[in-house]
Amino acid sequence: MPTDYFGERVAEHYDESTADLYAPEIVDPIVNFLVDLAFDGTALELGIGTGRIALPLAQRGIRVHGIDLSEAMIAKLRAKPGASDIGVTIGDFATATVEKRFSVVYLVFNTIMNLTTQDEQVACFQNVAAHLEPGGCFVIEVGVPELQRLPPGETVRPFTVSATRLGFDEFDIATQGLISHHYWMDEGRFETVSMPFRYVWPAELDLMARLAGMSLRERWSGWKREPFTSDSRQHVSVWEKTASPPTC
Ligand SMILES: C[S@@+](CC[C@H](N)C(=O)[O-])C[C@H]1O[C@@H](n2cnc3c(N)ncnc32)[C@H](O)[C@@H]1O
Repeated sequence: MPTDYFGERVAEHYDESTADLYAPEIVDPIVNFLVDLAFDGTALELGIGTGRIALPLAQRGIRVHGIDLSEAMIAKLRAKPGASDIGVTIGDFATATVEKRFSVVYLVFNTIMNLTTQDEQVACFQNVAAHLEPGGCFVIEVGVPELQRLPPGETVRPFTVSATRLGFDEFDIATQGLISHHYWMDEGRFETVSMPFRYVWPAELDLMARLAGMSLRERWSGWKREPFTSDSRQHVSVWEKTASPPTC
């Protein structure tokens, strides 16, 4: 099982530290997009966390199941109204199985990058394909690697700077690796956490999808179907299960 970077200490403050992402103007377009794809009313969230998307999606009548590694994040989900409608499997979303098939599987908020090797990311696509109904879709929201925004000759760039919180991404270009270093004050105590990621380009994700028997159906820069261009900083991509995966 991969390391759980979302243990008690992170789960305790997760909702508060991501409060901006719970705003209706952020959540509603995501939920609308997923509702439109859920042709049989079922959805599987990989890395469901505390239910930021799963709970409002379930409120729209979709039967949502989630997979997550972190017991601490799931405990936070379970404490929220409406959580009893959502099934959860504790496990690694690259390999865990749920004995159901879904019309849509989704993985938001850069969480594909939590799988830190190419093999794990490929396995995730294969696992998704095994959980999709024919014609079902896999949706990923992930940043475009920010390499062109690194200062010349540098491998570190800040992503958050405020009086109470600092964050820096440290890139390892040779391995497509990235460590996000977070520093914050908690009741007068200085806290820090560093999480490893593997950044991944849209074209590499398309190839992983193809290996798993899926093909690109849509790619946007946002959930309201804004065009994806050379300047886009993130993408929302939809691959459709079209075939059985190749056997060799
Ligand atoms: C950034 S949070 C996102 C939570 C939620 N999807 C949201 O949008 O707020 C990432 C979640 O993915 C989970 N996670 C990371 N890697 C995982 C893995 N390999 N298998 C299962 N869950 C994983 C973490 O435990 C955490 O709950």
